[in-house]
Amino acid sequence: MRDKYKYIGPLYDFLSSIYGGESIHDCKRAMLTEENVKAGDKILIAGAGHGKDAIRAAELGADVTVVDLSETMLIKLKQAFEKHPGNLNVNVVHADILTFEEYETYDMVIANFFLNVFYEDFMEKITDHLIKCTKQGGKFVIGDFAYPNGNPISNTIQKGYWYTAALIFYVTSDNAIHEIYNYTELMKSKGLEVSETKHYRYLGMNCYASVMGTKVVASDLSAETKTEQPEEATA
Ligand SMILES: C[S@@+](CC[C@H](N)C(=O)[O-])C[C@H]1O[C@@H](n2cnc3c(N)ncnc32)[C@H](O)[C@@H]1O
Repeated sequence: MRDKYKYIGPLYDFLSSIYGGESIHDCKRAMLTEENVKAGDKILIAGAGHGKDAIRAAELGADVTVVDLSETMLIKLKQAFEKHPGNLNVNVVHADILTFEEYETYDMVIANFFLNVFYEDFMEKITDHLIKCTKQGGKFVIGDFAYPNGNPISNTIQKGYWYTAALIFYVTSDNAIHEIYNYTELMKSKGLEVSETKHYRYLGMNCYASVMGTKVVASDLSAETKTEQPEEATA
């Protein structure tokens, strides 16, 4: 399959730093904290790119698997691992995420700046697949462009900022162009409980957000359903 990141891939993190300063990188690592990740936790990172989040997860002692379709991106990721002073426990898989079928396996699944590369229908299909890979009670994390929730002027500026990046990646990597996705609503629509959101500002704008949802344990769901049943009328 064609490597869409062949030309822009080597410069990806460098361009991110110019475009978003440290805020993009901070957003990718937002939920990788000692509270959220325990040593030995299994973490899947979909479309990992240069792997800044993978490095943080491995530093926390997690058992990390990254999956990416681009060989160019994975070469940069491996170079970053080699430069890292510690021994990182990361399993690198060169594949289309939809062919990676390790269901109900991961304590945390991360999709950072990944879902925005797809048109909505396909983005939903990938989201469903990633939620299937998450264990019951596990976490699903999306770090990406923040949904504009401000006044009309700030929303317009924020959208212009997103469309600038979308256009660059549409031209260079054939990525999708679409409105900014609302990942909080996406998670809720998929039955996840949104437990935490962290925002990252750049140039005075609310540019990026990391949203974490929990995959509700099936037994909790049936308990909820039971309590939602209308009580039988008493005579
Ligand atoms: C916009 S980049 C984001 C990279 C990284 N997550 C980050 O935050 O910097 C999207 C990544 O998703 C990968 N990708 C796109 N489609 C994919 C697919 N179907 N399966 C796996 N990886 C894919 C690309 O190769 C690229 O590395």
